[in-house]
Amino acid sequence: MAHSAILNVMMKAATKAGRSLKRDLGEVEHLQVSLKGPRNFVTAADRRAEEIVYEELAKARPDYGFLGEEGGARAGTDKSHRWIVDPLDGTTNFLHGIPQFAVSIALERDGAIVAALTYNPANDDVFVAERGKGAFLNDRRIRVAARARLADAVVACGLPHYGRGDLALGRHEIAAAQNHFAGLRRFGAATLDLAWVAAGRFDAFWERDLSPWDMAAGILLIREAGGFVSDIDGGEAILTKGSIVAGNETMHRELLRLLQDAAKEHASDPERYAGQSPAKAAATAPGGRGAR
Ligand code: IPD
Ligand code: CA
Ligand code: CA
Repeated sequence: MAHSAILNVMMKAATKAGRSLKRDLGEVEHLQVSLKGPRNFVTAADRRAEEIVYEELAKARPDYGFLGEEGGARAGTDKSHRWIVDPLDGTTNFLHGIPQFAVSIALERDGAIVAALTYNPANDDVFVAERGKGAFLNDRRIRVAARARLADAVVACGLPHYGRGDLALGRHEIAAAQNHFAGLRRFGAATLDLAWVAAGRFDAFWERDLSPWDMAAGILLIREAGGFVSDIDGGEAILTKGSIVAGNETMHRELLRLLQDAAKEHASDPERYAGQSPAKAAATAPGGRGAR
């Protein structure tokens, strides 16, 4: 399939960085058994990937601004265009040799995401979208799943980790979701979680405490695949608030309601779930399994 000039630029940058990450993954697999472990090596691989993406994008569009996870913001003379890049999303997976990680590139024009690409170098899945032109996985058109019953839905989420985010609130939300959905998944690469919602693999996804580069490409992929995306308050401030809820119209609405109810309950009694296992929290949640 022929891509637009801008998608070709993004594809070239992502596949070049992906080649470097693929080579590095081989080394990471060796380093698992060394005493030193692969952590420092992975930090270097991450930075290398960002520099490759930056150089390729800057070669093609030298005036555009750039926001990358590793190098931060680099201003461009063109104030309406900005790349938003996660050179390696799913670092923990990569560090452990788990093939669920991605290079993710979004192009923002006057504050709106107009082009998106998320590439998993481990299996060569390429998800792309341009505003108004649909979303594609490896050149095949993708749509969000049509499922409307929560009891049939598989939903992905992010888990807040120790030292970041509100662990007790996270547990409460997960317990609430467990009470309604067929299954929950935590795959560890938010850019792919979102791309998988766009492709209909997951029915919905939510996560808090994310950064713009974790979500920018996914927002467009899902909207172009016919899905709904908002921040956790139901608004448009996804990139600034750092929270995201996504799915088809029904899943998005129902998941949003469920999360908002969980947040309200949590705010009214923050001690209740602190330190509890999800199972216990579910059993003691108002309306939860144990309460019926
Ligand atoms: C992380 C992943 C993970 C999410 C974290 C992100 P990184 O990005 O997307 O799934 O739960 O919050 O920070 O650090 O691997 O680029
Ligand atoms: Ca990330
Ligand atoms: Ca990253």
